[in-house]
Amino acid sequence: MKTMITGVRPTGSITLANYIGGIKKFIEQQDKYKSLIFIADIHGLTTYINPNEIRNNILDITALYLACGIDLSHTIIFQQSDVLEHCNLGFLMAFQCGVGELSRMTQYKSKKAELSKNNKDMGLFIYPTLMAADILLYDASVVPVGADQRQHIEKTRDLGERFNKVYGKTFELPEYQIPKIGAKIMNLQNPSIKMSKSASKDDKGTIFILDDIEITKKKIMSACTDSEGKVYFDEENKPGISNLLSIVAVIDNLNIEDVSKKYKEYTYKDFKIEVATKVTEFILKIQNEFYKYRNNEEYLKKILKEGAAKARILANKKMEEVKKIVGLKF
Ligand code: TRP
Repeated sequence: MKTMITGVRPTGSITLANYIGGIKKFIEQQDKYKSLIFIADIHGLTTYINPNEIRNNILDITALYLACGIDLSHTIIFQQSDVLEHCNLGFLMAFQCGVGELSRMTQYKSKKAELSKNNKDMGLFIYPTLMAADILLYDASVVPVGADQRQHIEKTRDLGERFNKVYGKTFELPEYQIPKIGAKIMNLQNPSIKMSKSASKDDKGTIFILDDIEITKKKIMSACTDSEGKVYFDEENKPGISNLLSIVAVIDNLNIEDVSKKYKEYTYKDFKIEVATKVTEFILKIQNEFYKYRNNEEYLKKILKEGAAKARILANKKMEEVKKIVGLKF
């Protein structure tokens, strides 16, 4: 059985875009693979977050994953920092990598200015080498992610391949899996940027899964559209409307053509009411489940520890193999 893995940083709150980009796809396929899902808490530390907020986010995400349908009899869920092999292999992956290529990564380029001011950009710089380790450590073949992570998965493949060339086939090379519809859910207010979970809590263009339902409704009703007054899909000329169509398509499991046809005759206002209703119904269902889990912190911590114990067995075995291959172990 092939392995599937994905991770999410415990920074900010989970948005509708995170759900659509990574979690949904993962849940739908978890039985088809040996499945691992982890909280990339070390990656989270590449930018400063208040420690209590990190702890809180770790439990939020765990509860949310469970609420969305993680099957614990099948899927391993854990914290990255509980499995030290991620760091061990991350270090070795950095040795497979050039300073130049890392400095050209999109994420590094877009965020380095702010972090380098305080001499704190190294974490961001080696972000891809740790991420490569996360994936290669488990010989994962499939990595469901949002479109913004494509470059990281490509870099993971490159590093794995480079290592395999020097030392012989050691790592499985992963493929990213980016959802066809809604790979990029855009900000409702500014549909030229993606909906990001680093957005501030009161960003009107970002739908947080755990937001108050009334707030979510308002955000959708005030989403940016255009002046044409016709509902159809055209990402280039109608990014706002197209974004809303993508959201509905994903929630209803329909393709874009069917959704566009369905809402062809709608006014923008009626269309938005429909989107708001669908999104809030969907979010409410998840929220109900979420609070059942979130109110039991001891249970969540236990799940994470049990997951880490299972992941550690796999990671340790691979790391020992790697150490032998490179000559660190007799
Ligand atoms: N970089 C990913 C993000 O920001 C999180 C992540 C870290 C990840 N390690 C991973 C995703 C390994 C998939 C596989 O969303």
